[in-house]
Amino acid sequence: MTRILAIESSCDETSAAVLYDTEVRSNVISSQLDHSEYGGVIPELASRLHQQQIVRVVDKALREADTDRSQLDAIAFTQGPGLMGALLVGTCFAKSLAYGLGVPLISVNHMRAHVLANFLLPAPPEFPFICLTVSGGHTQLILVRGSLDMVLLGETIDDAAGEAFDKAAKLMGLPYPGGPHIDRLAAEGNRDAFSFPSPSVGPLEFSYSGLKTSLLYLLQDGLKENPDFIEQNREDLAASYQGKIVDILLGKLAVAIEQHPVKHLAIAGGVSANRELRSRFEDFCQKRGIKSHIPPLAYTTDNAAMIGIAGYFQYQEQDFVDSKVAPYTRGGIAGV
Ligand code: KG4
Ligand code: ZN
Repeated sequence: MTRILAIESSCDETSAAVLYDTEVRSNVISSQLDHSEYGGVIPELASRLHQQQIVRVVDKALREADTDRSQLDAIAFTQGPGLMGALLVGTCFAKSLAYGLGVPLISVNHMRAHVLANFLLPAPPEFPFICLTVSGGHTQLILVRGSLDMVLLGETIDDAAGEAFDKAAKLMGLPYPGGPHIDRLAAEGNRDAFSFPSPSVGPLEFSYSGLKTSLLYLLQDGLKENPDFIEQNREDLAASYQGKIVDILLGKLAVAIEQHPVKHLAIAGGVSANRELRSRFEDFCQKRGIKSHIPPLAYTTDNAAMIGIAGYFQYQEQDFVDSKVAPYTRGGIAGV
């Protein structure tokens, strides 16, 4: 059995997890709520908060897993992509711990880990499958041929789907991160109340900046007529806007499976917590006789358990890094 301690610090969640092979023994997540008053993540603040939290979070993960440091076989950490200052905290901590314990160090790509969160399910996807990864920073269609063999089929050319949620929420005066708020309001609204244009991009490309701009104009026009326009239409605005985001995601997924017929489909990333996406994704798969995979909620937004499962697969391949390893802010699913 392999016991891995995993650390995630790429953005505004400080997280540590202990995995015994593929079994998650603990997954501690400390979310930095301090950013919400600024309407977005402040990189400098994120680094400082990671620095403050990391020892406590790692300690709690070890205690909850009933595991002593001396029992660990490897340390896995997020190398990138993410915020440099935030990544440096996790990287330095992981490096020092691996050095102190004399165990191998495993550097994990955050986007790959989101995909591999699907392997924390009791019945994981079978290769090859396509994963739609939708987070605050990325919107990607990935052909997964093996646990460490992934091909990027297409991604966003501007904003990510999560950003589209967050920016809309900000325009509507909702707190950061906005996705869960839009999700909640949309459940009470009429999705046909407002219409939004479809972006014209390549067949497997996404674009969400135009959608956000058309919402901005819609709100500005509405507010000219009625100062309470947003307040009175919050649910319908959220439902129509969210409906369009999901239409675009599933439309591209349909193109991807036409080009690469697969029997299994998965979603991953923070936006895969969205209830409309989850239920429409399941219907989409069911209609086509495809097996759908959706990670449990705790493994959709940033968490260290997904870094741990990626670390587990890399451990099998003896894919270790030395002490010179440094984080990267951008990097595809294949790594740097
Ligand atoms: O994967 P993640 O935790 O961090 C990144 O790697 O970016 O994703 C965060 C994103 C945010 O944009 C947040 O608004 C969005 O996921 N999100 C949601 C929901 N929960 C989180 N978006 C829509 N509906 C949700 N329920
Ligand atoms: Zn993420």
